[in-house]
Amino acid sequence: MYFVTSFTMAKLRSIILFISLHVSFVPVVYSIGASHACRSYCGNITIDYPFALQSGCGHSGFRDLLFCINDVLMFHISSGSYRVLNIDYAYRSMILHDPHLSTCDSIVLGRRGNGFVVEHWRAPYLNPTADNVFMLLGCSTQSPLFQGFPYGNHVPCRNVSGMSCEEYYGCQGWMNLGLARMGLAYGSGPPICCALPYDAIKSVNLSKLECQGYSSAYTLAPLRVNGPSEWTYGIRVKYEVEVSNDSFCKACEATGGSCGHDMERFGQLCMCGSWNSTSNCDTIMKLSVGGTSLPRDKLSGLLIIISTFWLTSFRM
Ligand SMILES: *[C@@H]1O[C@H](CO)[C@@H](O)[C@H](O)[C@H]1NC(C)=O
Ligand SMILES: *[C@@H]1O[C@H](CO)[C@@H](O)[C@H](O)[C@H]1NC(C)=O
Ligand SMILES: *[C@@H]1O[C@H](CO)[C@@H](O)[C@H](O)[C@H]1NC(C)=O
Ligand SMILES: *[C@@H]1O[C@H](CO)[C@@H](O)[C@H](O)[C@H]1NC(C)=O
Ligand SMILES: *[C@@H]1O[C@H](CO)[C@@H](O)[C@H](O)[C@H]1NC(C)=O
Repeated sequence: MYFVTSFTMAKLRSIILFISLHVSFVPVVYSIGASHACRSYCGNITIDYPFALQSGCGHSGFRDLLFCINDVLMFHISSGSYRVLNIDYAYRSMILHDPHLSTCDSIVLGRRGNGFVVEHWRAPYLNPTADNVFMLLGCSTQSPLFQGFPYGNHVPCRNVSGMSCEEYYGCQGWMNLGLARMGLAYGSGPPICCALPYDAIKSVNLSKLECQGYSSAYTLAPLRVNGPSEWTYGIRVKYEVEVSNDSFCKACEATGGSCGHDMERFGQLCMCGSWNSTSNCDTIMKLSVGGTSLPRDKLSGLLIIISTFWLTSFRM
């Protein structure tokens, strides 16, 4: 009792003043509203981590990738631009559309399609899914596809997820081109259609493969569809973020931050409003109390002790 009463109000006030001068609540205050600062929308598609439309937001592996033009979300890589039809955050996949992609109704030749080639540095982050078939159309006899490319000396063409060129030849598009099914399947020379999973070639570069066109389709398991007129045409791409980077982002968002990256060195940053943290918004990096750094936990512990003391002394 003596201890508390002897502790004068003046001393208490000076402690409070010291605290408010040296331990500002700025990080706490500014972190409000920082969460989801990077989230945005394009048309009805939500753009969230690891993607972003603003520079500095999202994971650096996906920087300069998405653009929103008149509410149409565009995806841009070395081989060209694609429209994004959907992003599935639960399955970490997205569906891309290339207007020059051949479908069942329309076969587009003349090397007008984009194919699919990603920048070398981005390759670990984006890969068409294993159940997505690429069908390369009208490739020359000299195409690397038929020269044992890339491994061994076998033609890499094969069926993918139950989708085959044999079935694709039954499409109306071929009839529209004036090519009969029999001629396509049993002509001499290399097949006019070669189906492959992306993994077999790692890039679909129509010039390099000397192909006239391509198609890409996928079927979402476990649904089995009957024929090429029921396949879904488009490029289904899986995106990857390393587990460690993913947990960084979860911790950042849990403390009210938005996940972003350093625009020069591409390291991860947690954006906490008025400041950036290399861990999360609960860690105050440059807050000095008596020359030492204190994480917010310790500070709030200190404040609880002081305010308890304050209340106790008032009861006297
Ligand atoms: C977005 O809207 C289009 C039609 O405008 C619709 O076809 C599509 O399914 C919608 N996508 C989502 C993810 O809601
Ligand atoms: C935090 O990082 C982002 C992205 O690199 C940058 O745009 C922003 O200016 C940084 N903010 C501060 C306060 O340094
Ligand atoms: C495709 O291959 C050609 C020829 O090898 C090359 O010049 C071109 O840069 C490649 N395209 C892409 C997008 O990498
Ligand atoms: C691919 O599928 C077709 C039927 O769509 C079948 O005739 C052919 O034998 C299959 N090829 C392989 C290598 O499984
Ligand atoms: C992701 O995490 C790994 C391992 O911690 C690290 O080496 C890498 O630089 C991180 N990537 C980014 C973009 O920060």
